[in-house]
Amino acid sequence: MKNLKEAWPSICDYSVRLDLPPSRWKYEWSTHRRSAQRLYNAIRLSKPQIIVETGTFEGLGTYTMAKAAAENDNGARIFTVDYDGDPEEGSIPMEDWLELRRFREENLELARKTFPNVEIVFLNGDSRQVLPTLLPSRISTWDFFFQDSMHFTSGILDEWRIMRPYAHPGSIVVFDDVCLDWKQLPEHLLGRKKFCLHFVFHEAWKNGWQYQSTVEGRAQFWARKS
Ligand SMILES: C[S@@+](CC[C@H](N)C(=O)[O-])C[C@H]1O[C@@H](n2cnc3c(N)ncnc32)[C@H](O)[C@@H]1O
Repeated sequence: MKNLKEAWPSICDYSVRLDLPPSRWKYEWSTHRRSAQRLYNAIRLSKPQIIVETGTFEGLGTYTMAKAAAENDNGARIFTVDYDGDPEEGSIPMEDWLELRRFREENLELARKTFPNVEIVFLNGDSRQVLPTLLPSRISTWDFFFQDSMHFTSGILDEWRIMRPYAHPGSIVVFDDVCLDWKQLPEHLLGRKKFCLHFVFHEAWKNGWQYQSTVEGRAQFWARKS
């Protein structure tokens, strides 16, 4: 992929059939079908070898990325981070988190069996503590980063500051549940346009990141380093 703008219509081709396992947890935080199709298309097009995801949840985004990576058959590795909790959700009882953990483990196991040519590594813990143990000691760079854990500006920036030194020309990042186009943004996400503006002014223009934004499926902000 040479250019995110040119690739965008292919990334947003919603004709692909994915056949994902069903979402089972009580809250519907899983990737939306259209967002999953974008992830799949982008991974098929850009053929990343090192994929990092924050916010594994039930493992359906991971499963989608593993499917695309398996078809690429290029020895890809997926590192995905989560824990039994969420900094914004204090009222969910531990038994629900443990049920989520069971669904996640089952889906990750299914993905490992279905796509044996992709290595899927689950990292348990708060991303802000776990990511620094991954980079640069276990991986020196990343090709594709699906940021889908915290969706508030300071949390996203905490992860981004850990990840950004290890991006290279061609690295792609997807920030979930944020969008640049605040006129189209669902009302509950309105407070979140701040992150995208921050990225545009402090990262994209200065450091050569091309970007695209969408409200289809889950709102997302995508960027690719030139
Ligand atoms: C929206 S869901 C992720 C959906 C998933 N990526 C998918 O495609 O289906 C967000 C997940 O991030 C987790 N999470 C939130 N903050 C986190 C943090 N600081 N570190 C690790 N995981 C976190 C939550 O527990 C939840 O499981």
